[in-house]
Amino acid sequence: MKKIIILLFGIITVIGCTENKKHEKQDTKIQANTSKTWWKEGVLYQIYPQSFKDSDGDGIGDFKGIIEELDYLESLGITMVWMNPFFDSPMIDNGYDVSDYRAIHLLYGTMEDFDTMLAGMEERGIKFVLDVVVNHSSNQHHWFKEASSSRDSKYYNYYHWWPAEKGEPPYRYSIFDPEGAWDYNKATNSYYLHTFAEGQPDLNWENPKLRQEVYDIMKFWAEKGVHGFRMDAFQFASKDTTFPKFPEGHEKDFIKWYGMRPQLHDYLKEMYKEVMEPYDVFAVAEGAGSTLQDAHDIVDEDRYELQTAYHFEYVDMAKEPGSFDLTEFKEIFTKWDKSFAEDGWLAIFLANHDKARIVNRFGNPSPEFRTVSAQLLNTFLLSMRGTPYTYNGDELGMTNIDMPNIDDYVDIEALGNYKKALKINSDMDEFMKILNYSSRENSRTPMQWNDSENAGFTTGNPWKSVNKNYRDINVEAQDKDPNSVLNHFRKMTKLRNDNEVFVYGAYEMLDKHNKQVYAYTRTLDNKKVLVLLNFSDQESEISLEEIKQVETTLINNYSSFTSTDSKVTLKPYQAVVMTLKK
Ligand code: NOJ
Repeated sequence: MKKIIILLFGIITVIGCTENKKHEKQDTKIQANTSKTWWKEGVLYQIYPQSFKDSDGDGIGDFKGIIEELDYLESLGITMVWMNPFFDSPMIDNGYDVSDYRAIHLLYGTMEDFDTMLAGMEERGIKFVLDVVVNHSSNQHHWFKEASSSRDSKYYNYYHWWPAEKGEPPYRYSIFDPEGAWDYNKATNSYYLHTFAEGQPDLNWENPKLRQEVYDIMKFWAEKGVHGFRMDAFQFASKDTTFPKFPEGHEKDFIKWYGMRPQLHDYLKEMYKEVMEPYDVFAVAEGAGSTLQDAHDIVDEDRYELQTAYHFEYVDMAKEPGSFDLTEFKEIFTKWDKSFAEDGWLAIFLANHDKARIVNRFGNPSPEFRTVSAQLLNTFLLSMRGTPYTYNGDELGMTNIDMPNIDDYVDIEALGNYKKALKINSDMDEFMKILNYSSRENSRTPMQWNDSENAGFTTGNPWKSVNKNYRDINVEAQDKDPNSVLNHFRKMTKLRNDNEVFVYGAYEMLDKHNKQVYAYTRTLDNKKVLVLLNFSDQESEISLEEIKQVETTLINNYSSFTSTDSKVTLKPYQAVVMTLKK
């Protein structure tokens, strides 16, 4: 029988079904979350350094390229930058396999370039968030090289091993490797664990020496002046080290079986004391367990662990063409908002370097609706509660590319999933259709700066082909057009930066059954705003009591809208933000 395998490591992180002791009683009240701090007020922009701007013609983005674009960053109105890893690395997973946590990969420049870039951001009021990849290292890190040379190495216990005299380890799923998460090492006659690829051995967080090494690395960067850390895949750091057999049928709660053990909280509290507190930096967790409660246990203020989290339930929507459902989308965002109305803080995002482009997944990439739907999505991200995360290129409405053949792919995840699909005899046409739509390579194409060759990204041969639509979608063209996606993005960041109601204001969803329109209010003290978003390619109506209280229109991605006393008719993908009389 043919099967379709489900793509991407997001699938194994279905979140939030079984809830929730402490946070279950908030259904009826709306609440402003007002304990104030800079990282709640910030607007974060994610830079994928490999694809942002190449200054030396080698086809790969670099720090000097980013330095050239510091004024662009400032012009966006963003106040934080999270950059994907740029450390020494064999690059089997584009830098998420670090071989030296204190060294800059030659491709990106030097430590001096990094310092110049950081200082340039600082001057422009932009704080820097470092990607910390410490669930695993590269197998080329000297810790692993030494650990795998002898059981007597002082680094042996920096990793997880299964001594071969115990027989073969029980099968364990690997996110990237179709052959599973254990690999045999001859010199030590042991199997080592790799939750991700073979070249990404898991670090052993049980070992206090390893933990101290990690804190020292974080301190090194905090002393250089970074303001925050994004903890990569951190829910896997603490595991059941008896490595029991994975119970069949639990693929959806993968993390429960392979990570998120109670010791995670001890490690995070220790990290807080060692790094976050003394250096006054913040950290965001990638993923946050499987339930709302898991996420609260990591980020609530009185936990002294991490400060904010992004969970996967948002981005796990719309994995296949045509599967986006606005009702589900509204429910998910509302559920998480309600749960975090008083305690804890979340990132608000729809995409990153691990997902396809937002316009393709949640909007409409057709020439008719691409601009308005991208504007609508950015209006949403920048008017919700939580720190908004924008992935580079989404401020322009960049779109997916078309890659129908597996030979076009270079990403370890895509190639691993392809092999897994073959292994279980999947329908490969169907597999390729879904891969083409959802692959993370879609969002890794070079940034589109202008309409010159290679979109102004490089004068050389780009490491990844530029999206063919760069003559229509690029910074230079959009800069000049007051109605572009880019200028709409700037209006939204300004609105958010100037009005605390968008940061701290209570959120309330209106007309939850409306299948086309997402409507909500944000309220803080005597300020109240109404956000109306028509997520459909049809004109749509919404009837609301609040329409009578409309005062002024702050944002509208069309020149007008039609309304009576109680009803608004919105054009396709129209996004409107209005103030209301209180
Ligand atoms: C999550 C990162 O976002 C992804 O790009 C990477 O492949 C895995 N963690 C492994 O580090």
